[in-house]
Amino acid sequence: MMKAQTAVEIHEVLANRRSPRSLDSTAVLSNQDLIAILEAARWAPSANNGQPWRFFVGIRNDEVFGQILDSLASFNQGWAHRSSALILIAGVHSREDGTPNKGFLYDCGLAVAQMVVETHHRGLVAHQMTGFDVAKAAENLGIDPSLTPVAVIAIGKQAPADLLQGAMLERETAPRERKALHDIVLKGLPN
Ligand SMILES: Cc1cc2nc3c(=O)[nH]c(=O)nc-3n(C[C@H](O)[C@H](O)[C@H](O)COP(=O)(O)O)c2cc1C
Repeated sequence: MMKAQTAVEIHEVLANRRSPRSLDSTAVLSNQDLIAILEAARWAPSANNGQPWRFFVGIRNDEVFGQILDSLASFNQGWAHRSSALILIAGVHSREDGTPNKGFLYDCGLAVAQMVVETHHRGLVAHQMTGFDVAKAAENLGIDPSLTPVAVIAIGKQAPADLLQGAMLERETAPRERKALHDIVLKGLPN
């Protein structure tokens, strides 16, 4: 695990987390872990406590897993088929009075962030994807038009990188990189 380089120590889950593609295709996600991951999402903050997130959970080899996998871009299918679960998050894009809920994507992102932290805290890995066909996912899963598919999260157990080949293998072992703090904090960064 290559730890993130930070100016000051941060939480170990945040420092060590990465989005691996080499996953153990025999690993089974326990119901305990799955429910904890969903609870972490449920307890995310949201504007007006609107909780505009809905989840479709597929467990490897079940029908929902196949329906989500089928909607992924082929690059993503190439590795995500080895995940233990594929979770699609869809957002409620309108308020009850029919006006648009402009913040639904922000709220869904927060729910996924919490899910990802809980997943890694449990010794598992999460890999988010927007590389999927939204219309195909909606059709495969019979998603109501009041919901917009936002992202798919692969949950699994990390496997040795050499399960992958070529560019995917290179990306798997490359150090994680980020812009410098002074490039993203435009005012007020302490010296
Ligand atoms: C919204 C979002 C969409 C992403 N979509 C994909 C994807 O379709 N396929 C993929 O392999 N990785 C995807 N990723 C993973 C990113 O490439 C990854 O988080 C980024 O390179 C940083 O690497 P790290 O998470 O290991 O720190 C996505 C990540 C996010 C947050």
